Amino acid sequence: MHRTTPQTTATNRPRQTALWTAGLTAMALGAAFSAGQARAQGAGIFKGADLKLGEQLIAQHQCTQCHTQKMGGNGAAMYRPQGRINTAGLLRGMVEQCNATLNFQMFPEDVTAVAAVLNRDHYHFKD
Ligand code: HEC
Repeated sequence: MHRTTPQTTATNRPRQTALWTAGLTAMALGAAFSAGQARAQGAGIFKGADLKLGEQLIAQHQCTQCHTQKMGGNGAAMYRPQGRINTAGLLRGMVEQCNATLNFQMFPEDVTAVAAVLNRDHYHFKD
C-alpha cells in the first residue's frame, strides 16, 4: 500500500518501508506533493523543495565532514556530476541510499530537500 520510488533497491527495502510509513503520516499532514515527486525523474522533482531544510539536514548529518575525510579538500570532490550519478533521479536515489545505509531516518521530503541543495550547489541537473 505504500508507494515505492523507482530508485528502490532490494537491499534497503525494510528500512524504506519504515520510512514510507513515516512518510505517509507526513503526507497525511499535508505534504501531498511528494506522491507526484516520486514518479518524476527530471530536475522537476526538486521544484518547491525546502532548500533551507536541506542545508540544515546536510549540516546536521555531517555529510560534508565524512566526505572530507574520504576525499580530502572540502569534501566537494565526492560529488561527481560526470560520474554514475548523472540524473536528478539518481541523485535523489543516492541521497536516499545514504539515508537508509547511515540510518538518518529522513522523511521522503527531507531527502528531496537535501538532494535539491546538492543539485543547486554541485550537480546542476536541469532536466
Ligand atoms: C559516514 C560517512 C558518510 C556520511 C555521513 C555521508 N556520506 Fe555520502 N558518501 C560516503 C561515501 C564513502 C561515498 C562514496 C560511495 C561510493 O562511491 O560508492 C558517498 C557518496 C555520496 C554521494 C554520491 C556522490 C557521487 O556523485 O557519486 C552522494 C550524493 C552523497 N554521498 C550524499 C550524502 C549526503 C546528502 C549525506 C548526508 C545526509 C551523506 N552523503 C553522508 C560517505 C558518507
